[in-house]
Amino acid sequence: MKNAKCKKCGKPAVVKFRTYRISLCEACLPAFYESLVERSVKRHRILRENERVLVAVSGGKDSVALASTLKNLASKLNLSLEIIHINLGIGEYSEKSEEVVRELAEMLEIPLQVEHLSDFGFTIPAVRMRKVCSACGTAKRYLMNRYARLHRFDVVATGHTCDDFAAFALKNIAGGNLEWLLKFQPRAESFAEGVVTKVRPLFERTEEENLLYVKAKKLPFLADKCPFSPPKDEWKEIVREIERKKAGFMRNFVRGIAKIAAESGESVASVKYCKICGEIASSDVCAFCKLRLRSVVAGSENEMRRCTGYFM
Ligand code: AMP
Ligand code: FES
Ligand code: ZN
Repeated sequence: MKNAKCKKCGKPAVVKFRTYRISLCEACLPAFYESLVERSVKRHRILRENERVLVAVSGGKDSVALASTLKNLASKLNLSLEIIHINLGIGEYSEKSEEVVRELAEMLEIPLQVEHLSDFGFTIPAVRMRKVCSACGTAKRYLMNRYARLHRFDVVATGHTCDDFAAFALKNIAGGNLEWLLKFQPRAESFAEGVVTKVRPLFERTEEENLLYVKAKKLPFLADKCPFSPPKDEWKEIVREIERKKAGFMRNFVRGIAKIAAESGESVASVKYCKICGEIASSDVCAFCKLRLRSVVAGSENEMRRCTGYFM
């Protein structure tokens, strides 16, 4: 950043947003970042005026950036916000995450709901499966949708990033998996009763940009990685490598895929509802209830009864 000047105020710049060919100082960065998110939200109609938004915050940089930018947008679009944090019971990692989210919610003056997975009969370390992360994804999606549905939110917002989408898209193209690729929407409308609309306002923002933003705004966030996350994500490494050579690649790629997905319309498989809990399912029992049943302490009949009877 030698001798570069901030495009907004002329002071020495500290970062360059290569996709936008703009250098900025730390003081001007947050407003620029927020204007980019606002542009995405309006251009792709991700959020509509007067919506009640449940913001899913893990405590990591991306969802912290999401909560802060939505706070900024709330007065412009007359949104009402509430944060949901899911405590997954992963020891110190979950304790620290919850602490960070509590601090953030207080700072941004947004009401907070913390859901504990243990209240549903199990925790992530108790899941007896090889792919713990995929079980964790099932649990998070379920609890977010359930809370949003019960409390009549219009949408659930998550901090999925441009890196997430680009890696997901490339992986599915490489695997010829078009059905999954077409699920790729910055705003995925509800397709059945009981399914709340999902929005991803940061789908054009890279993780690098999110980190610069939360640091410039001095927002609390947790940099620790979940102990169950894989050591590296090779698809993300690949898309970032292309980005290094072709600035703007990731954003253009995800925009293109989202356009194709929107034009092809969504194919909806037949919808069922779980016989145990009543939430949406692809078979008689939903993925969350299956997880819950196989994760309760083996042989503990009372626990099993408590679990199956939980929602009855
Ligand atoms: P991940 O699936 O961990 O990549 O997270 C994607 C998005 O899901 C995050 O940006 C958050 O919006 C949301 N999320 C992940 N973990 C949690 C959590 N423990 N509590 C609430 N929201 C979460
Ligand atoms: Fe879900 Fe790590 S946060 S397995
Ligand atoms: Zn169920």
